[in-house]
Amino acid sequence: MQTVHDLAGLRAVARAWRRQGQRIALVPTMGNLHAGHFALVRRAQQCAPRVVASVFVNPTQFGPGEDYAHYPRTLEQDQAGLAALDCDLLFAPTVEVMYPYGIEHTLRVQVPQITEVLEGAHRPGHFDGVATVVAKLFAMVQPDYAVFGEKDWQQLQVVRRLVRDLGLPLEIVGLPTVREADGLALSSRNQYLDAGQRARAPLIHATLRWMRETAAQGHVHAAIERAAVARLQRAGLVPDYCAIRVADSLLPAAGDAHARLIALIAARLGRTRLIDNLPFAAA
Ligand code: PAJ
Repeated sequence: MQTVHDLAGLRAVARAWRRQGQRIALVPTMGNLHAGHFALVRRAQQCAPRVVASVFVNPTQFGPGEDYAHYPRTLEQDQAGLAALDCDLLFAPTVEVMYPYGIEHTLRVQVPQITEVLEGAHRPGHFDGVATVVAKLFAMVQPDYAVFGEKDWQQLQVVRRLVRDLGLPLEIVGLPTVREADGLALSSRNQYLDAGQRARAPLIHATLRWMRETAAQGHVHAAIERAAVARLQRAGLVPDYCAIRVADSLLPAAGDAHARLIALIAARLGRTRLIDNLPFAAA
């Protein structure tokens, strides 16, 4: 597997593939790869004969006081993991390659509405950073497919809207969340947890399952959400939200029996903020 850090290198490889009529699937990541990321790469390999993984810790999607400086950077290890999977190319650009005019003066891509709720409400500007860097990666790699995890459900919906609104010629593929045996969603941030926090973290997934079950029994969503918050607080977690929404719009469900719904949680354990979700069919 080749690794390239700049656009000239990326274009040389991608151009050669395209000349041979080979389609390209992209897996965007911030590195520190785990089994969830590797599952995306394997899904991408089912989509297209050539797979590009990108590793870039994107400064514009971190708020002030968030973990940009401390986000784990493990490029050599990521490289080895991707090579073992037979990934074709690792694109690991520098900040200067992604933001040639600097972070302050970069072009910005903003997806309205869906970015204002849930994660967007708690992390102002986060999805502008995500939409901007993802749009740049799509422009640079020009993939036919891009694979994203359902773990970051709202991000996946933001990316789907970005692609549709810009009319980009690529297909977005979502992959169900990869979990530990106890239900905890794999995340680079799990390694911040101490042993006590790690033991309590599966309560997030358990609470999502409980929200799904009580919603299926016909309980009022607002009451379920309040009870879920209390459940997490009793165990010492600090929830930002527990919500039941329409899966693709993330608006509150208006009683449409056919809507796909989703339960979503963001909660802090000490200084670590974890998110997870569970899609389900309306009762
Ligand atoms: P990162 O957090 O590294 O995640 C990269 C991709 O892996 C995302 O699509 C995410 O949803 C997926 N992923 C993470 N954990 C997963 C799990 N347990 N199961 C399945 N998929 C999982 O998300 C980002 O990076 C960035 O915002 C990015 C899109 C790269 C833009 O900077």
